[in-house]
Amino acid sequence: MSIVHLRAGGVSLVLDVTGDRLPVVVHWGADLGDEPDEVLQELRTATQPQPFGYPVDGPMPVSLLPEASAGWPGARGVTGHRAGAAPSTRFVVSRVDHAGRDAPWATGVVVHAGDDAAGLDLVLEVEQARSGLLRLRATVTARGDVAGTYDLGGVLPALPVPARATELLDFTGHQLRERAPQRLPFAHGTHERSGHRGRPGFDSGYLLCAGEPGFGARSGEVWAVHAGWSGNQRMHAERSYHGVCLLAAGELLEPGEVRLAPGESYVAPWTYATYGTGLDDASARVHDWLRARPGHPRTPRPVVVNTWEAVTFDHSLDRLTALADAAASVGAERFVLDDGWFGARRDDRAGLGDWTVARDVYPEGLWPLVDHVRGLGMDVGLWVEPEMVNPDSGVARAHPEWLLTAPGGRAPGQARHQQVLDLADPGAYAHVLGQLDALLDEYPIASLKWDHNREIGEAGLPPSGRGAVRGQTLAVYRLMDTLRSRHPGLEIETCASGGGRVDLGMLSRTDRIWASDSTDAHERAAIQRWTSLLVPYELLGAHVSAPVAPTSDRALPLDFRCAVALFGHFGIEWDVTEATEAERERLAAWVACYRERRGLLHSGRVVHAEVPDPAYDLHGVVAHDGSEALYAWVCTASSDTWPPPAVRLPGLDPDRTYRVALDGPARDLEGVAARWGVSLPWVDAGGAELPGRLLAEVGLAMPVLFADRAVLLRVSATS
Ligand code: DGJ
Repeated sequence: MSIVHLRAGGVSLVLDVTGDRLPVVVHWGADLGDEPDEVLQELRTATQPQPFGYPVDGPMPVSLLPEASAGWPGARGVTGHRAGAAPSTRFVVSRVDHAGRDAPWATGVVVHAGDDAAGLDLVLEVEQARSGLLRLRATVTARGDVAGTYDLGGVLPALPVPARATELLDFTGHQLRERAPQRLPFAHGTHERSGHRGRPGFDSGYLLCAGEPGFGARSGEVWAVHAGWSGNQRMHAERSYHGVCLLAAGELLEPGEVRLAPGESYVAPWTYATYGTGLDDASARVHDWLRARPGHPRTPRPVVVNTWEAVTFDHSLDRLTALADAAASVGAERFVLDDGWFGARRDDRAGLGDWTVARDVYPEGLWPLVDHVRGLGMDVGLWVEPEMVNPDSGVARAHPEWLLTAPGGRAPGQARHQQVLDLADPGAYAHVLGQLDALLDEYPIASLKWDHNREIGEAGLPPSGRGAVRGQTLAVYRLMDTLRSRHPGLEIETCASGGGRVDLGMLSRTDRIWASDSTDAHERAAIQRWTSLLVPYELLGAHVSAPVAPTSDRALPLDFRCAVALFGHFGIEWDVTEATEAERERLAAWVACYRERRGLLHSGRVVHAEVPDPAYDLHGVVAHDGSEALYAWVCTASSDTWPPPAVRLPGLDPDRTYRVALDGPARDLEGVAARWGVSLPWVDAGGAELPGRLLAEVGLAMPVLFADRAVLLRVSATS
């Protein structure tokens, strides 16, 4: 075999597997069609660069795990050493297996290789989903017949992108402002994003994209990588003067964290890679793959009411039952009891880690509340933070040896008055599993909100402080998997002070993400837009906050708060007992709107128009059969232009005719323009009816909106 062509979902990956070198990418991008091997071999020769100016004579094959032995002077795919020896690799391929895969995967290749000098064996897997999404994983094994340990520095798969990808997009941010986009030129050198946070972090690079200049939601080729890993991460874009442009993503290891004894293996997390014409296309490949997984949530996503912003630590039964009554009256379907129900947790200074119901607050256990909530027709969710403890807790006092420590046995600095439990310790793991299991056995809990409120930083294994994040991350995965297998149907929402742990490793075992602790719809509009690059709306928790958002003190109209939460897994984060009758009626109308539209919102293609005016955004969901769509026209700043020009409606079937009308409880275009008696001709005419081709090419005039207002457009095919 000399060429492998993985081809699915409109994407081709052509690998050169000639000779004994690790695979080299000939093409990653648009589908090349069903070309015979001879043509692809010809393509390989035709695209091989002139071997000019390389560090070593001859060609420089930069493989999926780039190696110095091939002449590559940049970041290496596998780093490590044996007591200082063998600091770089020369893997020799012994076998390449290329075969189909079970859905949602389509095809894949497994490469077996070894390096005698380093005493390593390598298995490199490359898989392609039916959607076109790719993923790569390397397993490195220290040979059993070679004495001593191999100190692994890291494994970082890399994929090349064409030189015309001259612009980068990735993400940064902080708590309450996760996944803020940043664009920069893809210049010579390395743009590196890494973090020792014990989780991807609020500022995680998230999806590192390289694209043609000015690539947008619908235009420009774009290639992107993501580390499917919930611990320390590393990703980079590297462009060398040789014209090689690489995107890499994987796990970041601490020095000494992985030391492979003879026969031991390190299995790297999956690196995901997507491609598209425009970001919508690239993210659709991720969404389609997630949605095709057997375990993807397929039941209607229930309207959640979460207690955190409503009651914080005030868990009086009367208050909670009143909240449940009010929430049920507007149509809530799931009641999530947040922090404060357990141990001595009357504030955030004590009790964390003691997962038994606080008898001083709930003398009869959770049953009176659970019965009340279920009597109202809602199911029950429960907040937990299994990886953490307050030093002032029963578990930390009884087992101080279970806490991660800084080097030399020092206590790491506290964050939110908490420390990290070493879940890789069998005793600690059994303790947490036992307590959570007992709760899930006793109560009919439909979902856990699984929080993670501090970074791990320098904390490591006691007493040396040796890097512990990898073991901790694997233990958390195991804990989630075990609880889910023991309690079929249990859903898990991942939260890390909001959206500090959003990655495809976590999403493989959770059903919802809490995208941000910001419930301010103005902030949320941006946070959700960029989070949805990877996360489809059914997995993206989005709640309607109080009229003045507690996280920002910003007052926002109810219709806007609801319209933003609609494009997600809708919920309420507001003490609705304090809402006026009119507010409750309006909220109930929005809940009904969500319940009616969630089938479309949670299955359709997520699309964004390329709107040049930064004040406005138009996003939506289009049914896969092209029969209907729902768009939101959203304003978050004051525009310097009015009225807005026609905006193209993306994603419609060009060959069908559609009727467009304003939709949702706020369909009467209330606002300043309406008060001035200025309306929109097509709205006055009772809607517009046009071919999809014209709506997509020419567009539709949009209403003037002022900041923090939104309208919905319902689009239905009439032919
Ligand atoms: C941080 C979360 O993001 C909040 O929603 C809430 O659950 C608190 N933790 C509880 O301590």
